[in-house]
Amino acid sequence: KDGGEFRIHENVDELATDLADYIAELSEISVKERGFFAIALSGGSLISLMGKLCEAPFNKTVDWAKWYIFWADERVVAKNHADSNYKLAKDGLLSKVPVVPGHIYSINDSLSAEEAASEYEFVLRQLVKTRTVDVSEISDCPKFDLILLGMGPDGHVASLFPNHIALDEKEEWIIFITDSPKPPPERITFTLPVINSASNVAVVVTGANKAEAVHLAIDNVGSECPVLPARMVCPTNGKLVWFLDRAAASMLEAS
Ligand code: 6PG
Repeated sequence: KDGGEFRIHENVDELATDLADYIAELSEISVKERGFFAIALSGGSLISLMGKLCEAPFNKTVDWAKWYIFWADERVVAKNHADSNYKLAKDGLLSKVPVVPGHIYSINDSLSAEEAASEYEFVLRQLVKTRTVDVSEISDCPKFDLILLGMGPDGHVASLFPNHIALDEKEEWIIFITDSPKPPPERITFTLPVINSASNVAVVVTGANKAEAVHLAIDNVGSECPVLPARMVCPTNGKLVWFLDRAAASMLEAS
């Protein structure tokens, strides 16, 4: 399996510096080429690992006004709820840099999961029409400049969980689930076709409790092993980068 590029770091601090460099560079390239940077965030530890973007030099050098910000997945809770991925990113990152508030595409928290997913897809379709978010020539899906993912110890990415029917979705861009094994149960999520249409996908994983899932997601494991959602992340025409710390990479054979 062509598992992409691996950036394995001695510690979380080094990883965070490299991650900030990587994001800043992709932002610069996209703004130069397209005039916009369409990025999708996830929840979890990712946001604190992106924290260096709020510091010098990145807070000044990144062209924040050109950022268009989506979420690869979101919990269907109020925007100010402690479980909200939007709130996490707002408090930890977006309130500290000069992004344009109108370019932050959080879900409508007054809707049901089903309505929120279809409205979020509608909003995304408008931005694809104007090419603020690019489009994949192959799949007609949005082609994000960068989709950032974390991974759970069970190998889930975004809100795509092991053995869940959501993994089979081929048509929709954004779907809802009401049975997430990780609380809260109601979530909306990008589908695999959208993730795999991106120009760049980064999966950011730290800690020894993820080591086995990293191994199962990347190494040539036998067919008797479960196929983790993270293993299904494989951009058709884009670049995949794994950001790992030593602990998360400790069971990896490919490195
Ligand atoms: C969520 C997150 C999720 C997260 C992983 C990893 O809504 O649960 O978006 O996809 O990225 O669970 O989270 P940690 O890095 O905190 O383990």
